[in-house]
Amino acid sequence: MADAVQKVAIVTGAAQGIGRGIAAQLASDGYAILIADIRLEAAEKAAAELRSAGSQAAAGQVDVSDADACSAMAARAVEQFGRLDVLVNSAGISKPGPSLEVSPADWQRMIGIQLNGPFFCSQAAGRQMVAQGWGGAMVNITSINAEAAFPQRAAYACAKAGVTMLTKTLAIEWAQYKIRVNAVGPAHTDTEMTARLVAQGLYDLETVQRRIPLGRLAQVQDVANAVSFLVSDKADFITGHALYVDGGYLAYGYW
Ligand SMILES: NC(=O)c1ccc[n+]([C@@H]2O[C@H](COP(=O)([O-])OP(=O)(O)OC[C@H]3O[C@@H](n4cnc5c(N)ncnc54)[C@H](O)[C@@H]3O)[C@@H](O)[C@H]2O)c1
Repeated sequence: MADAVQKVAIVTGAAQGIGRGIAAQLASDGYAILIADIRLEAAEKAAAELRSAGSQAAAGQVDVSDADACSAMAARAVEQFGRLDVLVNSAGISKPGPSLEVSPADWQRMIGIQLNGPFFCSQAAGRQMVAQGWGGAMVNITSINAEAAFPQRAAYACAKAGVTMLTKTLAIEWAQYKIRVNAVGPAHTDTEMTARLVAQGLYDLETVQRRIPLGRLAQVQDVANAVSFLVSDKADFITGHALYVDGGYLAYGYW
Protein backbone atom coordinates (compact mmCIF):
# COMPACT_ATOMS: atom_id res chain seq x y z
CA MET A 1 0.00 0.00 0.00
CA ALA A 2 1.31 3.46 -0.89
CA ASP A 3 2.06 5.84 1.97
CA ALA A 4 -0.82 8.25 2.72
CA VAL A 5 -0.11 11.70 1.28
CA GLN A 6 0.46 14.39 3.89
CA LYS A 7 -1.83 17.28 3.10
CA VAL A 8 -0.70 20.84 3.73
CA ALA A 9 -2.61 23.76 5.22
CA ILE A 10 -1.82 27.46 5.60
CA VAL A 11 -3.57 29.21 8.48
CA THR A 12 -3.21 33.00 8.57
CA GLY A 13 -3.28 34.85 11.87
CA ALA A 14 -2.32 31.57 13.53
CA ALA A 15 0.15 32.95 16.08
CA GLN A 16 -2.72 33.29 18.56
CA GLY A 17 -6.46 33.12 19.09
CA ILE A 18 -8.84 31.47 16.63
CA GLY A 19 -6.16 30.93 13.97
CA ARG A 20 -3.92 29.19 16.45
CA GLY A 21 -6.73 26.88 17.58
CA ILE A 22 -7.55 26.05 13.96
CA ALA A 23 -3.88 25.30 13.24
CA ALA A 24 -3.74 22.93 16.24
CA GLN A 25 -6.93 21.15 15.14
CA LEU A 26 -5.77 20.75 11.53
CA ALA A 27 -2.38 19.52 12.77
CA SER A 28 -4.14 16.85 14.82
CA ASP A 29 -6.24 16.02 11.73
CA GLY A 30 -2.90 15.18 10.05
CA TYR A 31 -2.06 18.30 8.04
CA ALA A 32 1.38 19.85 7.85
CA ILE A 33 0.83 23.48 8.86
CA LEU A 34 2.28 26.82 7.83
CA ILE A 35 1.56 29.26 10.65
CA ALA A 36 1.39 32.58 8.78
CA ASP A 37 1.24 35.73 10.84
CA ILE A 38 2.52 39.29 10.83
CA ARG A 39 4.32 38.54 14.14
CA LEU A 40 7.09 36.12 13.15
CA GLU A 41 8.40 35.39 16.64
CA ALA A 42 4.94 34.47 17.95
CA ALA A 43 4.31 32.39 14.81
CA GLU A 44 7.58 30.53 15.36
CA LYS A 45 6.60 29.78 18.94
CA ALA A 46 3.22 28.42 17.82
CA ALA A 47 4.89 26.27 15.13
CA ALA A 48 7.42 24.93 17.65
CA GLU A 49 4.55 23.89 19.94
CA LEU A 50 2.90 21.94 17.14
CA ARG A 51 6.22 20.27 16.27
CA SER A 52 6.79 19.27 19.88
CA ALA A 53 3.33 17.64 19.81
CA GLY A 54 4.56 15.54 16.85
CA SER A 55 3.13 17.50 13.92
CA GLN A 56 4.87 19.03 10.94
CA ALA A 57 4.74 22.81 11.22
CA ALA A 58 6.65 25.87 10.08
CA ALA A 59 6.22 29.61 10.57
CA GLY A 60 6.14 32.36 7.97
CA GLN A 61 5.79 36.12 8.24
CA VAL A 62 3.03 37.69 6.18
CA ASP A 63 1.13 40.94 6.16
CA VAL A 64 -2.08 39.73 4.51
CA SER A 65 -2.86 43.23 3.23
CA ASP A 66 0.18 42.95 0.92
CA ALA A 67 -0.56 40.86 -2.19
CA ASP A 68 3.12 40.10 -2.88
CA ALA A 69 3.58 38.88 0.69
CA CYS A 70 0.58 36.56 0.24
CA SER A 71 2.14 35.10 -2.93
CA ALA A 72 5.40 34.57 -1.05
CA MET A 73 3.44 32.85 1.73
CA ALA A 74 1.89 30.33 -0.67
CA ALA A 75 5.30 29.72 -2.26
CA ARG A 76 6.81 29.20 1.20
CA ALA A 77 4.26 26.49 2.06
CA VAL A 78 5.06 24.64 -1.17
CA GLU A 79 8.81 25.05 -0.73
CA GLN A 80 8.59 23.72 2.83
CA PHE A 81 6.04 20.92 2.41
CA GLY A 82 5.78 20.28 -1.35
CA ARG A 83 2.09 21.05 -1.94
CA LEU A 84 -0.90 23.06 -0.74
CA ASP A 85 -4.36 21.66 0.04
CA VAL A 86 -6.05 24.03 2.49
CA LEU A 87 -6.07 27.77 3.23
CA VAL A 88 -7.76 29.25 6.29
CA ASN A 89 -8.00 33.05 6.36
CA SER A 90 -8.16 33.99 10.04
CA ALA A 91 -5.80 37.00 10.33
CA GLY A 92 -7.65 40.04 11.53
CA ILE A 93 -7.80 43.15 13.66
CA SER A 94 -10.54 44.95 15.55
CA LYS A 95 -10.60 48.69 16.10
CA PRO A 96 -14.05 49.98 17.00
CA GLY A 97 -14.67 53.70 16.76
CA PRO A 98 -17.53 56.16 16.20
CA SER A 99 -18.29 56.38 12.47
CA LEU A 100 -18.24 60.19 12.63
CA GLU A 101 -14.58 60.04 13.69
CA VAL A 102 -13.03 57.06 11.87
CA SER A 103 -10.03 58.30 9.85
CA PRO A 104 -9.53 57.34 6.20
CA ALA A 105 -6.32 55.55 7.24
CA ASP A 106 -8.13 53.42 9.85
CA TRP A 107 -10.90 52.61 7.36
CA GLN A 108 -8.37 51.55 4.71
CA ARG A 109 -6.34 49.51 7.20
CA MET A 110 -9.39 47.52 8.32
CA ILE A 111 -10.50 46.84 4.75
CA GLY A 112 -6.88 46.10 3.79
CA ILE A 113 -6.46 43.39 6.42
CA GLN A 114 -9.99 42.00 6.76
CA LEU A 115 -11.19 42.06 3.13
CA ASN A 116 -8.23 42.56 0.78
CA GLY A 117 -6.25 40.08 2.91
CA PRO A 118 -8.58 37.09 2.38
CA PHE A 119 -8.75 37.91 -1.34
CA PHE A 120 -4.96 38.20 -1.81
CA CYS A 121 -4.31 35.01 0.19
CA SER A 122 -7.07 33.10 -1.62
CA GLN A 123 -5.76 34.26 -5.00
CA ALA A 124 -2.22 33.14 -4.15
CA ALA A 125 -3.38 29.79 -2.78
CA GLY A 126 -5.88 29.36 -5.63
CA ARG A 127 -3.15 29.82 -8.24
CA GLN A 128 -1.11 27.06 -6.57
CA MET A 129 -4.11 24.73 -6.25
CA VAL A 130 -5.12 25.22 -9.88
CA ALA A 131 -1.55 24.51 -10.99
CA GLN A 132 -1.48 21.31 -8.89
CA GLY A 133 -4.72 20.19 -10.51
CA TRP A 134 -6.38 18.21 -7.70
CA GLY A 135 -8.35 20.98 -5.99
CA GLY A 136 -8.41 22.08 -2.38
CA ALA A 137 -10.47 23.74 0.34
CA MET A 138 -10.55 27.25 1.77
CA VAL A 139 -12.30 28.65 4.81
CA ASN A 140 -12.67 32.36 5.51
CA ILE A 141 -13.26 33.40 9.11
CA THR A 142 -16.05 35.93 8.94
CA SER A 143 -18.27 36.99 11.87
CA ILE A 144 -21.85 37.41 13.01
CA ASN A 145 -21.11 41.04 12.07
CA ALA A 146 -21.43 39.99 8.42
CA GLU A 147 -25.17 39.76 9.18
CA ALA A 148 -25.82 41.77 12.35
CA ALA A 149 -24.69 45.36 12.95
CA PHE A 150 -22.95 46.53 16.10
CA PRO A 151 -22.29 50.25 16.64
CA GLN A 152 -18.78 51.60 15.97
CA ARG A 153 -17.81 48.75 13.66
CA ALA A 154 -18.66 50.04 10.20
CA ALA A 155 -15.41 49.04 8.49
CA TYR A 156 -15.15 45.70 10.33
CA ALA A 157 -18.74 44.71 9.54
CA CYS A 158 -18.48 45.85 5.89
CA ALA A 159 -15.28 43.83 5.50
CA LYS A 160 -16.88 40.72 7.03
CA ALA A 161 -20.01 41.08 4.86
CA GLY A 162 -17.64 41.42 1.90
CA VAL A 163 -15.87 38.22 2.94
CA THR A 164 -19.20 36.37 2.82
CA MET A 165 -19.72 37.49 -0.80
CA LEU A 166 -16.06 36.79 -1.62
CA THR A 167 -16.66 33.26 -0.33
CA LYS A 168 -19.66 32.76 -2.62
CA THR A 169 -17.95 34.29 -5.65
CA LEU A 170 -14.76 32.25 -5.36
CA ALA A 171 -16.80 29.11 -4.61
CA ILE A 172 -18.75 29.29 -7.84
CA GLU A 173 -15.79 30.50 -9.89
CA TRP A 174 -13.38 27.82 -8.66
CA ALA A 175 -15.80 24.88 -8.43
CA GLN A 176 -14.51 23.89 -11.89
CA TYR A 177 -11.07 23.37 -10.29
CA LYS A 178 -12.53 21.35 -7.37
CA ILE A 179 -11.60 24.12 -4.95
CA ARG A 180 -14.29 24.48 -2.29
CA VAL A 181 -14.61 27.84 -0.52
CA ASN A 182 -16.66 28.28 2.66
CA ALA A 183 -16.87 30.69 5.58
CA VAL A 184 -17.19 30.25 9.33
CA GLY A 185 -18.74 33.11 11.29
CA PRO A 186 -18.20 33.01 15.04
CA ALA A 187 -20.09 35.01 17.63
CA HIS A 188 -18.02 36.67 20.38
CA THR A 189 -15.15 34.25 20.95
CA ASP A 190 -12.99 33.79 24.01
CA THR A 191 -9.72 35.21 22.59
CA GLU A 192 -7.28 38.07 23.18
CA MET A 193 -9.28 40.16 20.67
CA THR A 194 -12.43 39.88 22.81
CA ALA A 195 -10.44 40.43 26.02
CA ARG A 196 -9.15 43.71 24.56
CA LEU A 197 -12.70 44.86 23.70
CA VAL A 198 -13.88 43.98 27.22
CA ALA A 199 -10.91 45.87 28.71
CA GLN A 200 -11.81 48.92 26.59
CA GLY A 201 -15.35 48.80 27.98
CA LEU A 202 -16.85 47.98 24.57
CA TYR A 203 -18.36 44.67 25.70
CA ASP A 204 -19.99 43.70 28.94
CA LEU A 205 -19.45 39.96 29.13
CA GLU A 206 -22.59 39.25 31.15
CA THR A 207 -24.78 41.10 28.66
CA VAL A 208 -23.13 39.33 25.73
CA GLN A 209 -23.62 35.91 27.31
CA ARG A 210 -27.26 36.69 28.08
CA ARG A 211 -27.80 37.66 24.41
CA ILE A 212 -26.47 34.28 23.17
CA PRO A 213 -29.18 31.59 23.53
CA LEU A 214 -26.63 28.89 24.45
CA GLY A 215 -25.47 31.24 27.22
CA ARG A 216 -21.71 31.44 26.71
CA LEU A 217 -18.98 32.84 24.48
CA ALA A 218 -17.75 30.72 21.58
CA GLN A 219 -14.58 28.85 22.42
CA VAL A 220 -11.75 28.67 19.89
CA GLN A 221 -12.32 24.91 19.69
CA ASP A 222 -15.96 25.44 18.59
CA VAL A 223 -14.67 27.42 15.61
CA ALA A 224 -11.82 24.98 14.90
CA ASN A 225 -14.29 22.06 14.85
CA ALA A 226 -16.37 23.79 12.17
CA VAL A 227 -13.28 24.50 10.05
CA SER A 228 -12.04 20.93 10.46
CA PHE A 229 -15.38 19.66 9.12
CA LEU A 230 -15.58 22.11 6.22
CA VAL A 231 -12.11 21.29 4.86
CA SER A 232 -12.65 17.55 5.25
CA ASP A 233 -14.04 15.06 2.73
CA LYS A 234 -17.20 14.94 4.85
CA ALA A 235 -18.01 18.39 3.43
CA ASP A 236 -17.22 17.35 -0.13
CA PHE A 237 -20.50 18.77 -1.53
CA ILE A 238 -20.51 21.97 0.53
CA THR A 239 -19.21 25.14 -1.08
CA GLY A 240 -20.15 28.83 -0.99
CA HIS A 241 -21.67 28.37 2.46
CA ALA A 242 -21.32 30.49 5.61
CA LEU A 243 -21.61 28.44 8.81
CA TYR A 244 -22.31 30.58 11.88
CA VAL A 245 -20.84 29.21 15.08
CA ASP A 246 -22.87 31.53 17.26
CA GLY A 247 -24.81 29.64 19.94
CA GLY A 248 -28.03 30.80 18.26
CA TYR A 249 -27.14 34.53 18.25
CA LEU A 250 -28.36 35.28 14.71
CA ALA A 251 -31.54 33.21 15.09
CA TYR A 252 -32.58 35.09 18.21
CA GLY A 253 -35.08 37.88 17.59
CA TYR A 254 -37.12 37.99 20.76
CA TRP A 255 -35.73 41.00 22.63
N1 LIG B 1 -12.67 37.10 18.76
C1 LIG B 1 -13.91 37.21 18.33
O1 LIG B 1 -14.85 37.43 19.11
C2 LIG B 1 -14.22 37.03 16.87
C3 LIG B 1 -15.56 36.86 16.49
C4 LIG B 1 -15.85 36.71 15.13
C5 LIG B 1 -14.84 36.74 14.20
N2 LIG B 1 -13.55 36.92 14.60
C6 LIG B 1 -12.53 36.93 13.56
O2 LIG B 1 -11.68 35.83 13.75
C7 LIG B 1 -10.37 36.13 13.29
C8 LIG B 1 -9.36 35.88 14.39
O3 LIG B 1 -9.69 36.66 15.52
P1 LIG B 1 -9.02 36.40 16.94
O4 LIG B 1 -10.05 36.65 17.98
O5 LIG B 1 -8.28 35.12 16.92
O6 LIG B 1 -7.99 37.66 16.96
P2 LIG B 1 -6.59 37.82 17.68
O7 LIG B 1 -6.34 39.29 17.77
O8 LIG B 1 -6.55 37.02 18.94
O9 LIG B 1 -5.56 37.16 16.62
C9 LIG B 1 -5.40 37.73 15.33
C10 LIG B 1 -4.09 37.27 14.73
O10 LIG B 1 -3.98 37.89 13.43
C11 LIG B 1 -2.66 38.40 13.29
N3 LIG B 1 -2.66 39.53 12.34
C12 LIG B 1 -3.15 40.78 12.53
N4 LIG B 1 -2.94 41.54 11.45
C13 LIG B 1 -2.32 40.75 10.54
C14 LIG B 1 -1.85 40.97 9.21
N5 LIG B 1 -1.95 42.17 8.61
N6 LIG B 1 -1.27 39.93 8.56
C15 LIG B 1 -1.13 38.73 9.17
N7 LIG B 1 -1.53 38.47 10.43
C16 LIG B 1 -2.14 39.47 11.10
C17 LIG B 1 -2.27 38.84 14.69
O11 LIG B 1 -0.86 38.96 14.83
C18 LIG B 1 -2.88 37.72 15.54
O12 LIG B 1 -1.97 36.65 15.71
C19 LIG B 1 -10.41 37.60 12.84
O13 LIG B 1 -10.60 37.64 11.44
C20 LIG B 1 -11.62 38.14 13.57
O14 LIG B 1 -12.19 39.24 12.92
C21 LIG B 1 -13.21 37.06 15.91
